[in-house]
Amino acid sequence: MSRLIIANHKMNFTLEESFNYCVNISKLGSHKNNLILAVAAPYLAYLANNFKSLTFCAQDVSRQKVFGSYTGEYSCEMIKSCGVNYAIIGHSERRNLFFETEDVISQKIENCLRFSITPIICVGEIRKLKQNDHYKEVLLTQLKSILNCISSIISEKNSIAQVIFAYEPIWAIGTGIIPSEEELLKTVDIISSIIKSSAIANNFKLVYGGSVGLDNIENILNVKNIDGVLVGRASLNSEDVLHMLSV
Ligand code: PGA
Repeated sequence: MSRLIIANHKMNFTLEESFNYCVNISKLGSHKNNLILAVAAPYLAYLANNFKSLTFCAQDVSRQKVFGSYTGEYSCEMIKSCGVNYAIIGHSERRNLFFETEDVISQKIENCLRFSITPIICVGEIRKLKQNDHYKEVLLTQLKSILNCISSIISEKNSIAQVIFAYEPIWAIGTGIIPSEEELLKTVDIISSIIKSSAIANNFKLVYGGSVGLDNIENILNVKNIDGVLVGRASLNSEDVLHMLSV
């Protein structure tokens, strides 16, 4: 079965390095899994234009809906016009370093859906809460406002583009620590059943993110109901990503 490998480059690489990375990735004609490349925003149009066989993704979009005086922002309409159909929304680094609230995240998701951009929506608990077993409440709070937003668009439009959820426990991001298969299965079950009970029903994919690498990707992808992975640090090595595309 083909899985999603989402490579999140974050704020890394010059344009030349990013270009060479894409050259390397393009060498492999066909592969088992599907790759989505979240490169830095300034490179999106150039790379999407030069590598038509690759799928690119924005790492964020503006909460603003229409063109206007919003210095430094870029909208869904802009990335769409660059040939980009995916955007990561609500990554924990956006939530923590740039103070994005559930409300802001919902506005960004709404913008994506209105422009037929598939949002890759990140949710996840911090370690302390996980230890206290209160993580379900955190996930529920995050999912509730996201699902309300998506449900109201579904009832307005009668359908929506695809939605991808990324379960990213904050304590696993960049730490080398990942949940056990048992923990992951349990949390994925909780998240899936919350989403399935909303208007989205079964029309979503769920990926895992947080310290994914060559040493653990197979085990993670073997966990039931995981449709792929969101990879940060390990995705900076194009050779590693080529391996991930064939596991
Ligand atoms: P990591 O990052 O793979 O480096 O842990 C994942 C992420 O931030 O999405």
